[in-house]
Amino acid sequence: MERLVIKGKQRLKGATRVNGAKNAAVAVIPASLLTSSQVKIENIPHITDIEWLIEILKALGAKVSRLGKGGLLVDSSGVNSFTPPHELADKFRASYYLMGALLGRCGQVEIPMPGGCNLGPRPIDQHIKGFTALGANVNLEHGLVKIKASKLKGAHIYLDVVSVGATINIMLAAARAEGKTVIENAAKEPEIVDVANFLNAMGARVVGTGTDIIKIRGVPSLGGVEHSVIPDRIEAGTFMIAAAATQGEVLIEDVIPKHLDPVIAKLKEVGVPLEIGPDWIKVLAGNSCSPADVKTFPYPGFPTDLQAPMMVLLTQAPGTSIVSENVFEGRFRHVAELKKMGARIKLEGRAAIIEGGRELISAPLKAADLRGGAALVIAGMISRGETIVEGIEHIDRGYEHLEERFNRLGAKIARKKVTESVFPG
Ligand code: UD1
Repeated sequence: MERLVIKGKQRLKGATRVNGAKNAAVAVIPASLLTSSQVKIENIPHITDIEWLIEILKALGAKVSRLGKGGLLVDSSGVNSFTPPHELADKFRASYYLMGALLGRCGQVEIPMPGGCNLGPRPIDQHIKGFTALGANVNLEHGLVKIKASKLKGAHIYLDVVSVGATINIMLAAARAEGKTVIENAAKEPEIVDVANFLNAMGARVVGTGTDIIKIRGVPSLGGVEHSVIPDRIEAGTFMIAAAATQGEVLIEDVIPKHLDPVIAKLKEVGVPLEIGPDWIKVLAGNSCSPADVKTFPYPGFPTDLQAPMMVLLTQAPGTSIVSENVFEGRFRHVAELKKMGARIKLEGRAAIIEGGRELISAPLKAADLRGGAALVIAGMISRGETIVEGIEHIDRGYEHLEERFNRLGAKIARKKVTESVFPG
């Protein structure tokens, strides 16, 4: 196993570029199954979720090759299976996009219930509701989701909860259905717009993404496409918060600042000095920040994926901050780790109450999920002493070489192979 060893109290300084968005890439790659023509995708991050997806596409019969840094060539003409290998598909949440993609392509799919970060209950009932409305039969048998449709027909679907995954999954299947599909109460995340742009460039007819009503006119076939994935706003936000927490000065390039509006607003509110350019954001060196209330909501609200990193920043703000998690019920697993470092945080239902302004002291920590893991790395960078972070496979699922990129900005983080965990049992 591997762990990170972080020497604390280092200020980040310099410039970094943001990679392509994980949450768009993990949908665009399965979407390439909707055509038999060749698809070229640029700006694909080197992360484990993507490696697993590539393996799955190959196992289904597609030819997939990496093209230099960040490029991917997919030729799905040879796809002859609708059963992604179970041992790969149940490793990560985004494998659920193979449902919509294979349903659209083959009219059927058999796949394990999606795995991924444990953020409390993560049902897929809205995905199933959508597929059923499109005319598919969905059966759950022994942990497998079996979906089959003799013909997909457009439908009017009202989502009971705003779900990124369900919105994209329904869009994928509906792109090849007969007739018109309307998704109401759709999620509005930029990654959804990116997937729609990809589909439309293949010849699909999707309008309304970025609003809560999406309309899709199904087409019988889709063609080849070249597409570049949008920058990762969550990665950008992670670097912004890390820069602010270390009171460093970091230029973050290749971003779409508009996608970070809620993060920029909150950082400004707590007193982090920022400069914003057309495709860059600079975090300027500042003093300790002020406390604030942070409420996570679907886009354009403050992203739940940056809740944990933001909480680390707020441990340094003298006074009381309240972080309310309104998207995922169980997304506070980083709190116990931060408390080991001396942070004063009390959990009350879906809220964390932080008494900030105390120096964090290094401790052995265990990442339990992707974004919580990144938050622990930031906590290690601002704490006194040497912090060990285990469970870093979660971080590698979504951040490309995170510690190397922090090191280029002045952090002191070593990745070490070890045979034993520091945690007993
Ligand atoms: C996606 C992102 C994840 C991000 C999240 C919210 C990907 C691969 N992952 O996850 O990084 O944290 O959006 O921005 O893009 N829900 C249901 N039934 C469903 C589907 C969802 O009740 O069928 C609930 C969830 O439990 C959660 C809420 O809806 O409480 C939002 O979930 P959703 O937007 O679907 O998140 P994911 O697509 O899993």
